[in-house]
Amino acid sequence: MNYTHIPVMLKEILEYLDPKPGQYFIDCTLGGGGYTMVIAERIKESGRVLAIDLDETAINNFQLTINNYELKNVVLVNNNFKNLKEIVVKYFVKNQKFSGIVFDLGLSSAQLDDKSRGFSFKSDAPLDMNYESEIMNQELGIRNQELGMNQKITVEKIINQWRESELIKIIKEYGEERCAKSIAREIVKFRKLKPIKTTGQLVEIIKNAVPKNYEHYRIHPATRTFQALRIASNNELENLKIALPQALELLQPGGRIVVISFHSLEDRIVKQFFKQESKECICPSEIPICRCDHQIKLKIITKKVVRPSAEEVLKNPRARSAKMRVAELSS
Ligand SMILES: C[S@@+](CC[C@H](N)C(=O)[O-])C[C@H]1O[C@@H](n2cnc3c(N)ncnc32)[C@H](O)[C@@H]1O
Repeated sequence: MNYTHIPVMLKEILEYLDPKPGQYFIDCTLGGGGYTMVIAERIKESGRVLAIDLDETAINNFQLTINNYELKNVVLVNNNFKNLKEIVVKYFVKNQKFSGIVFDLGLSSAQLDDKSRGFSFKSDAPLDMNYESEIMNQELGIRNQELGMNQKITVEKIINQWRESELIKIIKEYGEERCAKSIAREIVKFRKLKPIKTTGQLVEIIKNAVPKNYEHYRIHPATRTFQALRIASNNELENLKIALPQALELLQPGGRIVVISFHSLEDRIVKQFFKQESKECICPSEIPICRCDHQIKLKIITKKVVRPSAEEVLKNPRARSAKMRVAELSS
């Protein structure tokens, strides 16, 4: 398979992480391996990059790169970054700390362009939109059953089983979709007649629910709803909330955490986390005397969010909504 993804804000990533020979890094979202590759080059054979991705296709693709370039300093792991600490314990020595940890959230161009995976509203496919491979799903299924937890949430389940109010909530919140109510109503109306199985069906339902001049033709009517469903079915916001504190624990003093997000809710989670961890006191404002014993852990490096340059957006329009934030573990 031809796995293509143009890395976003690569120049800025290198500027903020400044990888040096012998250092250890984590790329929590390998994708096409754009960041992992340049970091691996800079840290030389004495350093290590732990590269994680939930998608087995991304892992297999990068395994070929490792073979071709005979890279000896990349540890590839097919897993969810929400298990960051567990992964590090499994693959590194006890108490291993890292010079930098990067998250480049969302999906890769390869995933979006793969017609079989249901991420795109431009082709007809089963309602899937999951990052994980089948093998991982089976593993997770067994694990979840052992733990008495539910199986993963599929987009098909969301569309056909969730209550109308729940559909409105996710389409509105995760998709920032103004027509959330009418889209949810149309989905419920349609599924009473027959189950909704494909992205093609869903696109037609959405088109029926929105005005003809939707967003003045600036974006496809299904863009926001598809984004919302992807975020909900992959638990994207929760994964990020679970992973950030673990990343912080894995940094060495002076080590940096870099997050690139493409959605305002993701960016808000990162911003609030950095803010909280860079404060001495996190007591509610109505408490006059500090009782939290909270310590400053992070220094915020990017006071304002960093955006891609106009030149980059021109070359790679998919970079246009990227927002980068960087923080450093206090020494
Ligand atoms: C935007 S792409 C990363 C692109 C990469 N920086 C590059 O330069 O090629 C995001 C990747 O994160 C992966 N991903 C999304 N959620 C994940 C999670 N919770 N754990 C691990 N990987 C995840 C996706 O499968 C996808 O390959």
